[in-house]
Amino acid sequence: MTTSTALRAAVDAAVRPPTTRVIVVIQQKGGSGKTTIAINTAACSGRSAVQSDDGVSSVVAAGTDVQGSLEKWCSAVREDALPFDYVVTRGRVGILSELVQDPSRRRFIVDTPGFMDVDPDAEWGEDPLGQSPVADALREVLELADLAIVPITPSKITWDEAEFTIERVLKPRSIPFLVVINMHDPGKDKGETQLNKVKAWVDERNYPRVSDPIRRYTIHEHAYENGAVVTEYKMSGTALNAREDFMRVALTMEQML
Ligand SMILES: Nc1ncnc2c1ncn2[C@@H]1O[C@H](COP(=O)(O)OP(=O)(O)O)[C@@H](O)[C@H]1O
Ligand SMILES: [Mg+2]
Repeated sequence: MTTSTALRAAVDAAVRPPTTRVIVVIQQKGGSGKTTIAINTAACSGRSAVQSDDGVSSVVAAGTDVQGSLEKWCSAVREDALPFDYVVTRGRVGILSELVQDPSRRRFIVDTPGFMDVDPDAEWGEDPLGQSPVADALREVLELADLAIVPITPSKITWDEAEFTIERVLKPRSIPFLVVINMHDPGKDKGETQLNKVKAWVDERNYPRVSDPIRRYTIHEHAYENGAVVTEYKMSGTALNAREDFMRVALTMEQML
């Protein structure tokens, strides 16, 4: 693996308390739901966390993309409605390695950008992340990661990239992973034909997955502009279903840690 000396030093110095776990949400393809999953899984995890009286949340969501999409979303949420703390690295190396040493933080859920600038000529077995600031930010997170969550959709458009992410990025680093199907449309895919196809595809490869999908709901699409996270959606049947979907992801994640 190509890891710069500075990055290596930062990661090696990161002595972690035994209760700390780092979970990275990663998938080469943009638009598969990484940011949505990172934020809402952090919200469910934070909502179920043991409360401390100092107001410090044991759950931290972290963003690594240069645009800071996680930060923008979180900063749009009322502070008392955000059940986790967040930090944005904007791709700067060293921040996460330092943060993970804080014993009051137990879960870091890290959003990542799609990595489009992978090296297409990288040999099998070689690190395909290439050389760029984004690649270094990804490498730091991957060095720290205890688990990766890989979103995939019923639409085939994300399948190859899910496989690439797992086979070329996660497996060579021995990072355990969990696939989650996102954007199952219960209205359009009534017979669950599409859903069953993607489940079969995942299971054929023996990839561990969350048992049931995250359903596609319009409320998720407006959550960013409304400054909302799934645990705080205005109460409705859909809101409950939506919360159940992400609670399931958070629970399955905990079982794998
Ligand atoms: N389960 C879902 N239901 C409805 N819309 C979703 C769902 N998951 C993601 N989206 C929407 O799809 C788009 C891409 O999601 P995003 O989380 O930004 O993906 P990524 O971070 O992988 O690029 C966003 O507009 C988001 O609101
Ligand atoms: Mg994103």
